[in-house]
Amino acid sequence: MTFDVIAAVDDIPGFLYPREIAHLYALASEIPQGGTVVELGCYRGKSTTALAYGAQSQSGKLHTIDPFEGVMVGNIEVSKGYANEVIDRIQRLSYGSLFTLHVGYSHEVVKDWQRGRIDLLFIDAEHSYESVARDLADWSPLVTDTGRIALHDHNSNWPGVQLAVAEFITRHNWRIISQVEGLVTLERNTNDA
Ligand SMILES: C[S@@+](CC[C@H](N)C(=O)[O-])C[C@H]1O[C@@H](n2cnc3c(N)ncnc32)[C@H](O)[C@@H]1O
Repeated sequence: MTFDVIAAVDDIPGFLYPREIAHLYALASEIPQGGTVVELGCYRGKSTTALAYGAQSQSGKLHTIDPFEGVMVGNIEVSKGYANEVIDRIQRLSYGSLFTLHVGYSHEVVKDWQRGRIDLLFIDAEHSYESVARDLADWSPLVTDTGRIALHDHNSNWPGVQLAVAEFITRHNWRIISQVEGLVTLERNTNDA
């Protein structure tokens, strides 16, 4: 029987549509054995948990990064207490030391990143053009040659996300490989493409 990831994260507050949850899970399930997933913007751990279920099937490492200090994205409020809530959720999956939660801003955490290269980067942090463009510029060089970048809210409600992605793929050697609801996924162009 196929694992029902949508049901498994149903009780966690968050902003993902069911098809987005299923797709994130599938992306994390496709990393290489022992690979690494990094999430920017965790909130209460809905996407984090979907990624964890997927990465766990590959004994993959999962890092999530969030300052947990009231940064507003749209109308949401983020409380300090959510960090422990997320740690509890992921530890219930018996994830052990493969899971690391970093309390901090993506642009700060990246400066000291010593956790190796990334097979799947999921960006769902601050949604302004400037912030998404900075996250793409800071983190994309850490993604492996065959790795992927997924971003949430790539839709007309968030023109900054759309503009940052459009500029990024125009200026760099990346392309869109899928769009599921507001979840867009990018891959590097291969030289012979
Ligand atoms: C839309 S919520 C994330 C939702 C979550 N990915 C989910 O689907 O359940 C955005 C989160 O990004 C966090 N955030 C805002 N700016 C950030 C930054 N520069 N680095 C990391 N996280 C950030 C906020 O604290 C908030 O928790």
